[in-house]
Amino acid sequence: MHVKLVNQPLELIPADLTVEFITPQTLESHPLKGLLQQAGFKAEQEQLCALHEHRLLVCGMSETNDESLRSAMGTVIKTAMDYGYPSLKLSQYGLTHFKALIEGAVLGSYRFETYKSEPKQSSLKEVVFSTENHDHIALNSDELTSILEQTLIIAKSTNFVRNLVNQTPYDMTPQAMGIVADELGRTNNLECTILDHNALEEQKMNAMLSVGRASINPPRLIHLAYKPKNPKKVITLVGKGLTYDSGGLSLKAAASMVTMKMDKAGGCAVMGIIKAVSELKLDIEVHAFVGAVENMIGGNAYKPDDVLVAKNGKTIEVRNTDAEGRLVLADVLGYAQENVKSDYIFDYATLTGACMVALGPYTTGVMGHNEELKQSWLRAADESGEYCGNLPFNRHLKKLIKSDIADVSNVSSKPYGGAITAALFLDNFIDEEMKQKWVHFDIAGSAYTESAWDVHNYGATGAGVRMTLEWLLKLQQQGNN
Ligand code: BES
Ligand code: ZN
Ligand code: ZN
Repeated sequence: MHVKLVNQPLELIPADLTVEFITPQTLESHPLKGLLQQAGFKAEQEQLCALHEHRLLVCGMSETNDESLRSAMGTVIKTAMDYGYPSLKLSQYGLTHFKALIEGAVLGSYRFETYKSEPKQSSLKEVVFSTENHDHIALNSDELTSILEQTLIIAKSTNFVRNLVNQTPYDMTPQAMGIVADELGRTNNLECTILDHNALEEQKMNAMLSVGRASINPPRLIHLAYKPKNPKKVITLVGKGLTYDSGGLSLKAAASMVTMKMDKAGGCAVMGIIKAVSELKLDIEVHAFVGAVENMIGGNAYKPDDVLVAKNGKTIEVRNTDAEGRLVLADVLGYAQENVKSDYIFDYATLTGACMVALGPYTTGVMGHNEELKQSWLRAADESGEYCGNLPFNRHLKKLIKSDIADVSNVSSKPYGGAITAALFLDNFIDEEMKQKWVHFDIAGSAYTESAWDVHNYGATGAGVRMTLEWLLKLQQQGNN
């Protein structure tokens, strides 16, 4: 589906269907108010009313803001894709809301049909935006064009991430993730280094290797780098790339194992972020590291009671093999910090079910030592249309991961605050000089959905991509001032 901008009044644009968003207030003065009300339309958020004889589809929204427009646009697209019209057109709702409309269209139209024997073919080929506002006031078309270009890159990168996460553990193995990274490196001119089993052994990444030991699919550490000339800042991104998490010997219950192909969402997110950064040509050097591993059972599986020596020399008592993501991240964080000196380090991981208990299934948990830095992320997330919530550290929680036989235990001794104690475990693998420059994102709830919400259909959401691009674009602007 193609999204384009036409520098003409809406009436002059040829299209099969016109889409309008109506609030309870704007309904009052609408020329088709009588007809719409007769059809039971009250302009409630997401309420649709199609007047096919007028070639008009209206969608209600509570108020004219980004969130309502994005979500309403998503609902419109999901429905219009099944109508059979090849094109639809809309006017603007103000310069600042254009981004939300494009996101609604591109993210809302995403469907994952790779495994359907007969993929649904949508007849909708084109969404056309007029440069004019709803009240016929022309907006700056150069500004609209650059918003369109930028937003398309970010939304398509989000869909790229969704496509990777949605693939089965049979198809998207650690090696397959390496191939995807290699291809991305070639198309987007990124440096790509991939460490295989032997290279990981040489690097003494025993925590990561232990997690992957019982799998027939050997692990990969992926390093993609975007290096513009004279970068304003250097950023390191680290992603948890568990292509499958069975729990290992601390085996998950059958019902909890379903959907665990999504445990690679953090790794996929950092690949999507670096894709967008390179296409936007930001003046920021970005390094994306992915720990791609499969957590399985077998005669050679790592065990509860094992003690692992991580790359940075710290010893870890394994008390639960299902708390594997933090073990992989421990080594990848160590490798990343040893190889790249950066201004900030951010990690993305579907790390804990506890994060979902704390914040619900839509919200990413934000953790770290630097309050101001976390606040900048909460603001960026809010502006990007992603939900984030702060989960605060304290020194008492830190005591819960003490081990009697090693430097640290991989699980907490108490059943509460599990998202935070997981982050405090990671803190053991953050170098002293990076403590204030590190933020951890737990995307366990936000990365995947089994029922459609907002601009998401069933499956992967691409969590982390939009908020990170928002944060990076702000960082770039600060550098320009
Ligand atoms: N990948 C899971 C976390 C997860 C759970 C993500 C549900 C998405 C949805 C992680 O590896 C895990 O199993 N964590 C355990 C930790 C526990 C053993 C301390 C959990 O959350 O139960
Ligand atoms: Zn697990
Ligand atoms: Zn996991």
